[in-house]
Amino acid sequence: MKKLLLDVDTGVDDAQAIMIALSSPNVEVLAITCCHGNTPLDNVLKNTLRVLKVCNKLDIPVYKGFSKPLLESKRNAGDYHGMDGLGDVPDPDAPGVELLQKEAAAQAMVKIAKQHPEEVILVATGPLTNLAVAVQLDPSFPKKLKALYIMGGNNDSRGNTTVCGEFNFVADPEAAHIVLDRYNCPTYIATWEFSCRSSLPWSFCDEWLSHKSEKANFMRKITALSMKKARSAEYQKEVIAGGGFNPCDVFALAAAVDDKFIKEKDEVAVTVELDGKHTRGMMVLDYMELLQKQHKVFIMKTVDSERLKKMLIKAIN
Ligand code: BDR
Repeated sequence: MKKLLLDVDTGVDDAQAIMIALSSPNVEVLAITCCHGNTPLDNVLKNTLRVLKVCNKLDIPVYKGFSKPLLESKRNAGDYHGMDGLGDVPDPDAPGVELLQKEAAAQAMVKIAKQHPEEVILVATGPLTNLAVAVQLDPSFPKKLKALYIMGGNNDSRGNTTVCGEFNFVADPEAAHIVLDRYNCPTYIATWEFSCRSSLPWSFCDEWLSHKSEKANFMRKITALSMKKARSAEYQKEVIAGGGFNPCDVFALAAAVDDKFIKEKDEVAVTVELDGKHTRGMMVLDYMELLQKQHKVFIMKTVDSERLKKMLIKAIN
């Protein structure tokens, strides 16, 4: 049984990732920690609880993390995910925040890793603020993890938020820098460009959303707004390799739960640019080994889309 700890900024694709984790038979989700990102933290908390409710898993502990980045000004992605982060289709019966744990997210992360040494797989699908603080609280935290999977950064200088910066890293560049420097556990990164190139055909997406179940209804509702945007000619022009359905965060989660999902990957040392006028928040890949960093990460290159499709279908049935 894989033990997962999810650090999320629940937006639409985080919701999809959480639902895959919850429907994977070989996975136990130990806890979910929440961070600012796609939408303000209060929305992230509510959205996470809504997802757990529809999956009948409100017993999974949810922790409140940071509501803002370490130094950067706050930003969110309301234009894509909706102002509430989940497609602007409010649920009048949404679970109340009294269900949240009292302990702070970063502290809980450290505690959970201590309870299950070298067993916990951490999947981070938002800005990395909670992870950056967790390693300050306990410098040995990364070593206690089995692995870390991140959706974030870019590997081809192609951004989706700044010219060459991806949202999660640009939203908290210092946090991303700390994590890439100090997390010395096996680390897998699903970058923005990789996720675009691994997009699924819209025909699959249409079929996927035509399933009939309570979870499928929920998915149809929360995705409607972002799907409309993603399918627009204007958006498709911005993305890479012809576009398609790109559930970014799902790639990191799928790799964490399924060892056969990644087909090809690069192993390389990485860091994050903190200074550049146009490049702040951009991930830098050191293929020439000029930085002489000991620790290398795995950059995902190709994946098995058929396995992903099966996971997405299972998640809503
Ligand atoms: C990332 O930014 C967010 O909008 C998505 O949820 C994903 O985590 C893609 O750049």
